[in-house]
Amino acid sequence: MKPLILCRTGHEDMALRLAPLLDAEHGDVETRRFPDGETYVRIASPVKGRRIVLVTSLDRPDDKLLPLLFLAAGARDLGAADVGLVAPYLPYMRQDKRFREGEAVTSTCFAQIISRWVDWLVTVDPHLHRRSSLSEIYTIPATSLHATPLISTWIKTHVSAPVLVGPDSESSQWVAAVARDAGAPYIVLEKTRRGDRDVSIHVPDLDSWVDHTPVLVDDIISSGRTMVETVRGLIAIGMKRPVCIGVHGVFAGNAYRELVESGPQEVITCNTVPHPSNGIDLSDLIAGGVRRTMNAVQQGH
Ligand code: R5P
Repeated sequence: MKPLILCRTGHEDMALRLAPLLDAEHGDVETRRFPDGETYVRIASPVKGRRIVLVTSLDRPDDKLLPLLFLAAGARDLGAADVGLVAPYLPYMRQDKRFREGEAVTSTCFAQIISRWVDWLVTVDPHLHRRSSLSEIYTIPATSLHATPLISTWIKTHVSAPVLVGPDSESSQWVAAVARDAGAPYIVLEKTRRGDRDVSIHVPDLDSWVDHTPVLVDDIISSGRTMVETVRGLIAIGMKRPVCIGVHGVFAGNAYRELVESGPQEVITCNTVPHPSNGIDLSDLIAGGVRRTMNAVQQGH
């Protein structure tokens, strides 16, 4: 029996790409809101005995989580062999410690909820800053894939004389890896974040790089302030207009428009969150990760 891919209406982009790559069927799911705001979920394809692959982007997760859990619970209840989750963007990874007294460490709680309802997880470049692996918080087999080789290939084929720029120390892991694969130099700047949208970037003298095209690389573009302030800082010291690359283009509120208006040549993201800036397709990478994870789960690893 072929695996069955399930996703909610409006979230089909990655699911439709993965179905042929995984030799899987695309199932029918019906979801809607009752008048009182509660969620109705119905899986209209046969589930019994089948391996289920739930596919969803989990940006803006709060509204997506409950329908996802109902879908997973429903599939289990209907006799699925196992239920996996492909969440190319994994949210709630940044509140990974109690920064201020009394805060909830939401990354741990979110991981516990997901681990309770699905049997395995595949994601791309989760924000592992203070943690080294998803297994520190997820109790199910969890595969982290890396977009860096595909970002490097994009840079090699689209940008001449790049100098990669990481806006802060947290981005240094991406920048170093992308730079190595792209055969390009890189620099890491210093960021000070005073609030959700209050960010400043210290851009040092970069005279020796004025003939290069700065390529900003970061894992997440959320409020966009990190990228906006970096673009402005680079342009202010006379650098060429940068290219901005984010793995996950979450773009909260007006972030995309504000970033475009700050003056970069181009804004490119991977298709972990559906967005017009998606220029790097990760479906082959994700399909490979799903195949390996499903095989490992089947073999009991
Ligand atoms: C920070 O640790 C991350 O690597 C990103 O730099 C950050 O999440 C970007 O957030 P924003 O777009 O809100 O500045």
